[in-house]
Amino acid sequence: MAMKQPEHYILAIDQGTSVTRAMLFDHSGRKVIESEKSFPQYYPHNGWVEVDANEIWNSVQSVIASALIDAGVHPEYIDGIGISSQRETTVIWDKATGQPIYHAIGWLSKQTAPIAKQMVAAGYAELIHEHTGLVIDSYFSATKVRWLLDHVDGAQARAEKGDLLMGTIDSWLVWKLSDGQLHITDYTNASRTMMFNIHDLKWDDEILKILNIPKQMLPEIHSCSEVYGTTKNYQFYGVEVPICGLVGDQQAALVGQMAFKPGEVKNTYGDGAFIMMNTGDKPQLSNHKLLTTIAYDLEGHVTYALEGSIFVAGTALNWLQETMKIIDNVPQSRQVAMQSTNDDEVYVVPAFNGLGAPYWDQDARGAVFGLTRGTNRSDFVKATLQSIAYQTRDIIETMRQDTAMPVVEILADGGASRNRYLMQFQADILDLPIVRSSDEDTTALGAAICAGLAIGYWKNLKEVSQIHAAGRTFNPKMAADRRKRLYDGWQVAIKATRAFKP
Ligand code: G3P
Repeated sequence: MAMKQPEHYILAIDQGTSVTRAMLFDHSGRKVIESEKSFPQYYPHNGWVEVDANEIWNSVQSVIASALIDAGVHPEYIDGIGISSQRETTVIWDKATGQPIYHAIGWLSKQTAPIAKQMVAAGYAELIHEHTGLVIDSYFSATKVRWLLDHVDGAQARAEKGDLLMGTIDSWLVWKLSDGQLHITDYTNASRTMMFNIHDLKWDDEILKILNIPKQMLPEIHSCSEVYGTTKNYQFYGVEVPICGLVGDQQAALVGQMAFKPGEVKNTYGDGAFIMMNTGDKPQLSNHKLLTTIAYDLEGHVTYALEGSIFVAGTALNWLQETMKIIDNVPQSRQVAMQSTNDDEVYVVPAFNGLGAPYWDQDARGAVFGLTRGTNRSDFVKATLQSIAYQTRDIIETMRQDTAMPVVEILADGGASRNRYLMQFQADILDLPIVRSSDEDTTALGAAICAGLAIGYWKNLKEVSQIHAAGRTFNPKMAADRRKRLYDGWQVAIKATRAFKP
């Protein structure tokens, strides 16, 4: 009697801003198991956001172990590992000891805003935009590297001697999984550092010189899908598994949504919300402060994207729960919002860490408008959910100005996309259909696809495209005059928020 062959899997690690997840995918693209773990964030000063890179690594080890144990899968049946990770967050570590020299500086952190301002004042905005596709901002890794080299005793000299290594979280995790054998990144993560030339696809010597960042501390840059090396057996349950997919988490969601055609747009509603349009094989520079970024490098071709980054989306709902304590849990926000009977005249602008695209206002802080004696909890919760949709519209409007490609629908995913109130309001305020993926985890699926393609688990993108299942579509229902009145009100609220500089 023929024995049934055990199934083989791809392990995806999705290392996000506040949560680390591990998932196993089978050949049909089905997620067979998931495990997750959060880790602490540190806020040592107003606006600063730091994480301990060792705590991130511990969370990764822990979710991998739980996923394998819960699924009852022996590591031998993992054919490859793909990693999607929060982008821009920067860690510097000692090459010999493997110890970080300081906390990792989070992508949201504002501690490097003065460095970004100095760069703008010195007249580098155009050069940075042309070479990297980015807007000078503390969001990107370059100012974080400069800050770490300035603030940790002796760091500049050690980096110049070649004793320190720098990386975004992808680099850090691969370095740990390979036990120091691999110091690498991929094009998508590199394109968020503000040190990477998106035309030459190399580290940009001119920018490194301006910031006095020693090149030898930077990782080698690779495609999103190739066998970079293997885990060291004592770092991975006695087994050497190919590490073969690396991709920034937002780009991973684009891949997981199978948005492989130019003009396709996705929005991932996570801690932040990140809207990305596939723009094909040539970089398109924005005239309205959207970012030009690498979408992915698969099957030997680099694809570009335009991106609008919203810093606070799902985080605003966590704020309602953990800090304001007006909801018991995030999913409850839908039910509470639907109890609101006001006419949507309350606006919450959750600019906790400044405003991202298209404003790029590092100094903006959050605000609430339109309160009356009758404003209640449900009005406040509803306005917070609506702020996510309004910010998305700001970016879609900008995309419309920047590209001739029409936006016909938005592919939605991420945790907050499970909120039906938000999805319907999003469709209404954009006057566009929102196609929500059947599974919120397109990010991890994107990482798995990158890994699977590298080792022939899936043959090509054509085969991969078969594994996607679109979920529910939300169609716009709002009357045009109401849509206009509401969005006009939002624009007034944004203007007033930006004018307030205490
Ligand atoms: O650019 C930051 C982004 O990559 C973070 O994504 O999903 O962890 O909030 P997320």
